[in-house]
Amino acid sequence: MSGANPFLDPARQADLYGHASRLAGRSNALMRAKTSGRPVPDRIVELVRSHHARADRLGVVLDIGCGRGTSSVALASLLCPRRVVGLDAAPALIDQARERTRHLPGVQVSFLQGDFHRLPLPAGSCDLAVAAFCLYHSPRPETVVAEIDRVLAPGALAVLVTKSLDSYRELDQLVATAGLDPHAERHESLYVSAHSGNLAELAATSLDVVTTENEEHIFTFDGHDHIAEYVATNPKYGLAPGLYGNSGALAAVLHEFVPDRPLTTRSVITFVVAQPREGRS
Ligand SMILES: C[S@@+](CC[C@H](N)C(=O)[O-])C[C@H]1O[C@@H](n2cnc3c(N)ncnc32)[C@H](O)[C@@H]1O
Repeated sequence: MSGANPFLDPARQADLYGHASRLAGRSNALMRAKTSGRPVPDRIVELVRSHHARADRLGVVLDIGCGRGTSSVALASLLCPRRVVGLDAAPALIDQARERTRHLPGVQVSFLQGDFHRLPLPAGSCDLAVAAFCLYHSPRPETVVAEIDRVLAPGALAVLVTKSLDSYRELDQLVATAGLDPHAERHESLYVSAHSGNLAELAATSLDVVTTENEEHIFTFDGHDHIAEYVATNPKYGLAPGLYGNSGALAAVLHEFVPDRPLTTRSVITFVVAQPREGRS
């Protein structure tokens, strides 16, 4: 196991986000397991409607770390701004985001490949910036927040979203018990650089925090086959060669060593709504 946190290790990003199908497989398995918690893109839209004075007349909306475009679709179709710009470092995910937004009527949607530490947009050009589940990939998330502040127009809003440090720890227990990774419970959280406990503080390094909201999301996996679909591409674990990315082989190990039964796990999702500082030039 390398010492670097896999979410902060650039060398692991290509593997994590190089194939849209991997991320889709992991996300779909997790969403199928969800039993409690509102859809995050819908909640982002609700927060914008509650806190943005011109939510029905937005100009440019920036979706930072847009991935496969799940939030971009919701922002475009529910808020109907003049334009949605999605930005992500991973070309394969941008391709899929383009495909998913191709037929959205009435809103211009475009995607840029780039690094969120240097947003390729002019100062003061955005009415809304969303950064959902991506700041924890930065070793310097306060730099991203400063960039968000730079691109926000007066009266604009930022919505930042992340997860708690202890998210899915019941999965860590299972992975350790099954012997898949005996150290599973001792690895550093993937969300260490931007998590529920420090997100508001991070936002406040450049912005004024308007509100912070925490919501517990609960997930019940049907059993080993379902769990394996999620765990097989989770970079947290030091799986034996041949198991990473191979949910069938991983499920076989689980079946051999642990009784097959549903497993419930949790994550706290934190939303921070913030705005440019009063009196900012
Ligand atoms: C877990 S995905 C989140 C996708 C999406 N926001 C969502 O909520 O479904 C994290 C995304 O952050 C992107 N990312 C990681 N480092 C980045 C960087 N330095 N600049 C831009 N995007 C980055 C990844 O490529 C990936 O698409």
